[in-house]
Amino acid sequence: MFLQEHFRRCPSLWGVEPVIFQCRYELADFRDDDFATLHVHRPQRLTQACRKRRAEYLAGRYAAKRVLEHLGYPWMQVGSDEDRVPVWPRRLKGSISHTNHEAVCAAFEGGSAGASVGVDVERYLCSSKLDSVRELVVTRSERGLIANNAIDESWALTLFFSAKESLFKALYPQTRAAFDFREAEITVLNQSTKTFTIRLRTSVHVRFPKGWTALGRYFDDAGHLTTLVVL
Ligand SMILES: CC(C)(COP(=O)(O)OP(=O)(O)OC[C@H]1O[C@@H](n2cnc3c(N)ncnc32)[C@H](O)[C@@H]1OP(=O)(O)O)[C@@H](O)C(=O)NCCC(=O)NCCS
Repeated sequence: MFLQEHFRRCPSLWGVEPVIFQCRYELADFRDDDFATLHVHRPQRLTQACRKRRAEYLAGRYAAKRVLEHLGYPWMQVGSDEDRVPVWPRRLKGSISHTNHEAVCAAFEGGSAGASVGVDVERYLCSSKLDSVRELVVTRSERGLIANNAIDESWALTLFFSAKESLFKALYPQTRAAFDFREAEITVLNQSTKTFTIRLRTSVHVRFPKGWTALGRYFDDAGHLTTLVVL
């Protein structure tokens, strides 16, 4: 099923070096037998899901399995709770993302009590989606960041959208609080180190007040972009 797969090197962010595994797959090649072949548990609820969802779930959990093996937990599987939040072995923090062509998992062991990671992979936005993302996702100061640094807008919108999804996935397991895309904004974007800083514009939780910031990293690949946020 998988066309390409690899571990990504991720330089430290705030002292955390997550293990990242990414794989590319072809939806047309997916077979339900792949769960057994790849030793990935298929939850009962997935029986009702469409083929695309089953394939994406498998790809995400396969990436998670490879990360768990790398971290020394070859016998563990990642479940999901009632909010769809992935459930990791006790000492691990991790996150999963998938499209219908790519899957990625990032996780690390240890870290402080509040440490966490969020990961997201996105295909580059097509021109028909730019207006809605500009409207729903991007703040005025982010528009300034794009204009002042002459950054390609469609690339930047994909990055900002993905970075905010990653932030949400890192925060939500700790806060259980929903928040809007425009409640966070990219304040620094460094294209030489491929890192960014993302700041909350409103208070999301007592531990994550207005002005609180996190660091992120991005990886450019042909056709898609992957972001990672570490708390
Ligand atoms: C939850 C959400 C992040 C999931 O994204 P998605 O479009 O399904 O796409 P992805 O493939 O990137 O991520 C899916 C994976 O994220 C994980 N996930 C789902 N909900 C999650 C949550 N609340 N917290 C953390 N991780 C979550 C799961 O592992 C899921 O895969 P699985 O169901 O196969 O286990 C997104 O749809 C969402 O609801 N976003 C909320 C709005 C938002 O991001 N606001 C931005 C705030 S700045």
